[in-house]
Amino acid sequence: HLNPQMEEGASALRPAVCRAKGGAPGFKVAILGAAGGIGQPLSLLMKMNPLVSVLHLYDVVNTPGVTADVSHMDTSAVVRGFLGPQQLDAALTGMDLVIIPAGLPRKPGMTRDDLFNKNAGIVRTLCEGVARCCPDAIVNLISNPVNSTVPIAAEVFKKAGTYNPKRLLGVTTLDVVRANTFVAEVLGVDPRDVSVPVVGGHAGVTILPLLSQVTPPSSFTQEEIKYLTNRIQNGGTEVVEAKAGAGSATLSMAFAAAKFGDACLRAMRGDAGIVECSYVASEVTELPFFATKVRLGRGGAEEILPLGPLNDFERTGLEAAKKELSESIQKGITFVNK
Ligand code: NAD
Ligand code: LMR
Repeated sequence: HLNPQMEEGASALRPAVCRAKGGAPGFKVAILGAAGGIGQPLSLLMKMNPLVSVLHLYDVVNTPGVTADVSHMDTSAVVRGFLGPQQLDAALTGMDLVIIPAGLPRKPGMTRDDLFNKNAGIVRTLCEGVARCCPDAIVNLISNPVNSTVPIAAEVFKKAGTYNPKRLLGVTTLDVVRANTFVAEVLGVDPRDVSVPVVGGHAGVTILPLLSQVTPPSSFTQEEIKYLTNRIQNGGTEVVEAKAGAGSATLSMAFAAAKFGDACLRAMRGDAGIVECSYVASEVTELPFFATKVRLGRGGAEEILPLGPLNDFERTGLEAAKKELSESIQKGITFVNK
């Protein structure tokens, strides 16, 4: 890896201490795409997580700088950097959790599906690495279009004979984070006290907030429901347009990914009652993948929770979501098997 001289330099001085540091209790986490707009703040946040003992930062560019920088934070995780395809296997070997924010972001006027041609191949290559080097790791997939990249990852793992649907989780936490924020604004409360389930997928109409199931129980006018649903479904586009060509959400996404990653790690440690929305293999609808609340456990998505009661507005939204999702899922499956 990129910074052996740092560890070796120190261990030459006090070998036993440095070995003990590398073996601290905790999980081994890799971030693939660690030098990117999401990757950098996510690396910072995961370095701050006390459940992480080893943090591997992989990218095809710029990991030496990011690694040197993040490794100076005085938290316990040992940071190692990996650069380019020749170092992918070393980055992945022995990992418990792999977080993937690698790939191109949108520019104004693009849909997430417009990223498919570039990002499908990136996700396939990285997941082939996961299958080779850490087939038991839990994977948090962020790269867009998530509605298609999760099916791509599943097909890659199936081909490699390593597929366990519980361990493949599409990250939709940013939709929940946005929904909590926007709903709290309307209600005039602290967003930390609000929880909005967001189901379906992660693009446009496939993002389906269930405002009838907000906790604490809240009622909204028809006008508020339309405003909130539209703002939550288009939150990503709001950021893409505001950044005006400089990319899409990175900071709120890193926050969301760190929140979801931490939930996975706590569940892997054995904490009970951890429930998050995620886009996973599912039998909740007739589609093979769907985002709902899932109960996380040591093995990943241990239980897929049902949709719960929907009102008429949400039922109509569900039909629109399923139509688009179905096409995106098929596109991902075809990409790997063509
Ligand atoms: P970015 O361009 O700033 O960073 C992407 C990084 O991926 C770059 O550092 C690039 O070098 C790296 N990369 C490219 N090919 C790679 C490969 N083969 N292996 C490893 N790394 C590789 O983009 P970003 O803003 O960080 O966004 C990354 C992805 O996350 C995009 O696809 C974006 O659409 C997606 N995203 C998803 C969500 C979500 O909610 N799931 C939210 C925001 C962004
Ligand atoms: C988001 O929701 O912010 C991401 O999916 C990035 C995007 O392209 O909108």
